[in-house]
Amino acid sequence: LDNGLARTPTMGWLHWERFMCNTNCDADPDNCISERLYMMMADVMAAEGWREAGYQYVCIDDCWMSKSRDAGGRLQADPRRFPGGIKKLADYVHSKGLKLGIYADVGTSTCAGYPGSLAHYDTDAQTFAEWEVDLLKFDGCSMDTTLLEEGYVNMSKALNRTGRPILYSCEWPLYEWPSQKPNYNTIAETCNQWRNFADAYDSWSSVKSILDWTATHQDIIVPSAGPGGWNDPDMLVIGNFGLSRDQQESQMALWAIMAAPLLMSNDLRSICRHSKELLQNRHIIAISQDELGKQGYRTVDHFEVWERPLSQGWLAIAVLNALEIGGPRRFSLKAAPGWKTCTPLCNITQILPQYEEVGVQIGHQVSVNPSGTALLVIMPINDLLF
Ligand code: GLA
Repeated sequence: LDNGLARTPTMGWLHWERFMCNTNCDADPDNCISERLYMMMADVMAAEGWREAGYQYVCIDDCWMSKSRDAGGRLQADPRRFPGGIKKLADYVHSKGLKLGIYADVGTSTCAGYPGSLAHYDTDAQTFAEWEVDLLKFDGCSMDTTLLEEGYVNMSKALNRTGRPILYSCEWPLYEWPSQKPNYNTIAETCNQWRNFADAYDSWSSVKSILDWTATHQDIIVPSAGPGGWNDPDMLVIGNFGLSRDQQESQMALWAIMAAPLLMSNDLRSICRHSKELLQNRHIIAISQDELGKQGYRTVDHFEVWERPLSQGWLAIAVLNALEIGGPRRFSLKAAPGWKTCTPLCNITQILPQYEEVGVQIGHQVSVNPSGTALLVIMPINDLLF
């Protein structure tokens, strides 16, 4: 969507995977969906290097609403959990140098059963703009699949009419796939990012299924990604319970290769040092945010080699050891298809599992743990002046 937003993949935090629809603030005041949760996350994001690393959006997901619209037909936040209202929360988040995201649904109700936006697109877009919201995640539950396109397009227009730049995050293709092949040209013209596949869970099997889906559909989805519009493989679950250290590195590396939005769903208040360093790794974020804006793709599948073209003719290569038995396996970079761009040589920087300026080498072998990923950038050297 050409609205000036998401020129590189969106970075931020989204509550869903970690906090879900926890509305019990009496029993669990620190973790329930309430204004406090977003204020606390915004505090941590501003204080602990997240904002500087590029994580900008603090995003609300489902379950923020009151079960009914107000007398004027407008959506309203649950008054007990959001006593200040969304506008005040947006002001707070903005005061921290961050942006606020909100959630709604294209159909008659959200996935968790709160009011949907069908027949209210203009009112809701206007309400979000008045609240000074910066991003809308628009879900696709409770909607006739034949009306999805019309609904998502109309909300895109409604947001545009407000005059406020609001990043538009869609789930349209995810809901369309079961009935028809989505039209990615229209989707990319309508949305700043779009979900294609199932929700991310806190497990390696979930992350792996997302990678598999993406690789098997890459011919269809990779061409539509670029500045202003991105395929969204869903949240980063790094820093939670289900991924080992190697698997967390794999998710981070591959999300960067896929030019995916980096929306963390975790508890930044208690995240461990290693996960924090990984999420804030500036070398990986540089790949994610590369200005060429091309999405990477899987090339070799027995070892799972993924490549992403970067600006300046550089290439990011992720080597995932998909064999989940035994110890580390060695992979020679010469076996990566992209190595052929090294005419005659490449300068190699290894980013994961540890940072190393390998330099100019005829070949380089990386050792990769089971379900771990080596991440490298190769820079072709076109003349031999050195
Ligand atoms: C759907 C979406 C999730 C989340 C939930 C909320 O499952 O795909 O990302 O927003 O709804 O109910």
